[in-house]
Amino acid sequence: MKITLVIFFTIILLADGRMKRKFKKLKFQKLSGPKDFDLLIFTQHWPETVCFTWQETVSNHTCNLPRDEEWTIHGIWPTQYHKEGPSYCNKSMQFDSAKLAPIEDELEVKWIDVENGTKPFSFWKHEWEKHGTCAMILPEVSDEYKYFKKGLELLDQYDMKGVLAKANIFPGKQYMVQEILDGVYNVLGKHCQVECVINPKTKERYLFEIRICFDKSFNLTDCDNIASYPTNCSKKKKITYPGTVPSRISVIQF
Ligand SMILES: *[C@@H]1O[C@H](CO)[C@@H](O)[C@H](O)[C@H]1NC(C)=O
Ligand SMILES: *[C@@H]1O[C@H](CO)[C@@H](O)[C@H](O)[C@H]1NC(C)=O
Ligand SMILES: *[C@@H]1O[C@H](CO)[C@@H](O)[C@H](O)[C@H]1NC(C)=O
Ligand SMILES: *[C@@H]1O[C@H](CO)[C@@H](O)[C@H](O)[C@H]1NC(C)=O
Ligand SMILES: *[C@@H]1O[C@H](CO)[C@@H](O)[C@H](O)[C@H]1NC(C)=O
Repeated sequence: MKITLVIFFTIILLADGRMKRKFKKLKFQKLSGPKDFDLLIFTQHWPETVCFTWQETVSNHTCNLPRDEEWTIHGIWPTQYHKEGPSYCNKSMQFDSAKLAPIEDELEVKWIDVENGTKPFSFWKHEWEKHGTCAMILPEVSDEYKYFKKGLELLDQYDMKGVLAKANIFPGKQYMVQEILDGVYNVLGKHCQVECVINPKTKERYLFEIRICFDKSFNLTDCDNIASYPTNCSKKKKITYPGTVPSRISVIQF
């Protein structure tokens, strides 16, 4: 008798839990569709570090680097708080390189595909199809041309080389990640996110990406609520902001 009672209540508890979960899911979908988002992350990356990661994967990889040492665009990413995505929101909006003809020369420099040898346009195609098709519910980035044009505008306005220089942070030197986080905050007045990569051979850390956040009106806002805020860099070790592509010590050339 006692045992049947225990089993009975266990079943009720389990069913209740499942129903609550189901209800939560329904409520969530109603409040904000799965393709909706809370803010946009504008990610700039440091080409010297991107090149390092590309060369790390396969030793004969070569890189396209901008003529001047500048931060370049990775993408504009619609994001829900504490999550990644949404992504790939409209599969019928396929990338069309012809639409970018008027700004292609500028994109080649500022939204450069560091990874030489990948298919032409593959980087832009990826950013558009994964992120642009989600961002396009906003009037300012409602088509492919506008999405890429907006990226160029944001880079001009918030170029990280300039932002960091104002905070006395320069390529070729090393910093604690807190100095970078504080430096960007002091210049822009909003919290950013900073990403590093580690050189597996030397355990050296390189500054890789800096993400700043915008609300849906493209006003700068704090990144506090995005996933892996404020950083995935070590908080205790110095980070190199490389002035040149970190050399590949895995390759011995005769
Ligand atoms: C790089 O090396 C791979 C084999 O490891 C080879 O298949 C490929 O053709 C090489 N690429 C270039 C550009 O030399
Ligand atoms: C890019 O790769 C091609 C071969 O895949 C090579 O001919 C060219 O020199 C490379 N460009 C750079 C900048 O290394
Ligand atoms: C995807 O894009 C097509 C073409 O612009 C449009 O007709 C359709 O409504 C879009 N679908 C969604 C889910 O937004
Ligand atoms: C930080 O995140 C990036 C992706 O944005 C990843 O490539 C990198 O390996 C991560 N770094 C560390 C130190 O975990
Ligand atoms: C965004 O900024 C503009 C002017 O810079 C301002 O008029 C507008 O109210 C702001 N929007 C939001 C949602 O804060």
